[in-house]
Amino acid sequence: MSAPGPAPASGAAASGGFDRRRELLQAFDDTKAGVKGLVDAGVTSIPAIFRHSPDALEQLSSSAPPPPTDAAVVGVPVVDLAAQPRESVVAGVKRAAETLGFFQVTNHVVPEELMAGVLAGVRRFNEQPADVKRRFYTRDTARKVRFSSNYDLFQSAAANWRDTLFCELAPDPPPPEELPEPVRNVLLEYGGAAAKLALRVMELLSESLGLAGDHLREMGCAEGLNVVCHYYPPCPEPHLTLGTSRHTDADFLTVLLQDGMGGLQVLLDHGDGRRRWVNVAPVPGALIVNIGDLLQLVSNDRFRSVEHRVLANKSRDAPRVSVACFFNADTKRSTRLYSPITDGSNSPLYRSVTAKEFVARSYMKGLGGRPLDYFRSDVEQHTGSGRPEENSM
Ligand code: OGA
Ligand code: NI
Repeated sequence: MSAPGPAPASGAAASGGFDRRRELLQAFDDTKAGVKGLVDAGVTSIPAIFRHSPDALEQLSSSAPPPPTDAAVVGVPVVDLAAQPRESVVAGVKRAAETLGFFQVTNHVVPEELMAGVLAGVRRFNEQPADVKRRFYTRDTARKVRFSSNYDLFQSAAANWRDTLFCELAPDPPPPEELPEPVRNVLLEYGGAAAKLALRVMELLSESLGLAGDHLREMGCAEGLNVVCHYYPPCPEPHLTLGTSRHTDADFLTVLLQDGMGGLQVLLDHGDGRRRWVNVAPVPGALIVNIGDLLQLVSNDRFRSVEHRVLANKSRDAPRVSVACFFNADTKRSTRLYSPITDGSNSPLYRSVTAKEFVARSYMKGLGGRPLDYFRSDVEQHTGSGRPEENSM
C-alpha cells in the first residue's frame, strides 16, 4: 500500500502529529537548499520526513543474494535502433512496450557528448553555492524553470532523497537567460535531440499498433516536453528512504538518461502473481525509454506503463544524476480528448480524457497513486453505447 498523504497516528495525537509533520516539511522547504543542503550541513541520519514505511521499502535488502541470472539484463531489453531489417526493430520495441514497458535504446541519434554534457551541467548546477540555487527554488508552476526538492513534498507519504530542476521546454521554450548558467547551453539542445528520438520511437510504436507511422505524432503525443533533472545526493541511511518513490509516468513517453551509478528499478510482473523489482542497469551510451500512462490509455492496455522507483544513493560521496524527458500533449492548452484506440473487436477500457485533466489528477495523488485507475471506464457505461471515437485519428 502506498496511500498518498501523511498517515497520522490514531487518537488524540493525530492532529498534533499532522501539524508537526507539516511544520517540519515547511521548515525544510523554507531552507530552499534541498536535500543537498542537508548533506552539506553534515547530517549523519535522515530527518523523520524522509523515513518511508516498511511497505514502501519492500525488497530494499533483496540485493543480498544475487539472482542466478542477471535479472536486469533479462528483464530490461536493449533495442538497437539501427538493426536490420527494420521489422526486427519494430518487433523489439513492440515486445518491450507490451511487457515491461521499459527498454534501453542504442544507436539512437543523441550524441554522447551531449548526454555527458547535460549530466555534467545538472551536477554543476546542484553543486553551486546554495545562494545561487535558491533564486530558482519555487513551487510556482507558472514559472517554466523551477528548482525544488520533491515536487510533491506536501502531498506524499514520505519525502525522497533527491532535488530536482524542472524545465518546460516545449511547445514554448523559456528564453535561454531564464535557464541556470550551468545548463544554459546544453538543456535546449539535449531536449531537441531527445525529442527526435521520441518521435522515432513513437513511429515504431505507431507501427506496432498497426497504425500509420505518424499516427501518435499527429495525435500530439510529443507536442509538450518537460525536462526534469534529478540530483540524488549520497544518503547516510539509504535503507530507510528512497530516491524516487514508486510511480508511473503521467505522460505518453519518457526518455531517461541516467549516469553510471544505478539505482533505478522497475517492477517486473512474472504474470503468475509474482512481482519483483529489477535493476535497470546502466548501459554506457544507451538511453532508457518507457511507456507513460497516457500511451497505455490510448493503446487500450496493449502497451504498459510500469511502476518504477529509484533507491536512495548508497555511495559515500558521489551523487547520482539523471535527466528525464517527459513527452506529452501541450498539457497547459490542449483541449484534445484522448481515448482508447480500438479496432472494434474490443471495447474501450478507459474514458476520454484531456492530457491536462490527466496530469492534474496525477499531481493530486503525488508520487505513489495510480492515476490510470481513476480513468478506467465503468464496463456497464460502455456496453453498446456506440460512443464515437474521440481520438482525432
Ligand atoms: C522520473 C523517474 C528515474 C530516475 O523522473 O519519473 O522515474 O532515474 N526518474 O531518475
Ligand atoms: Ni518515472
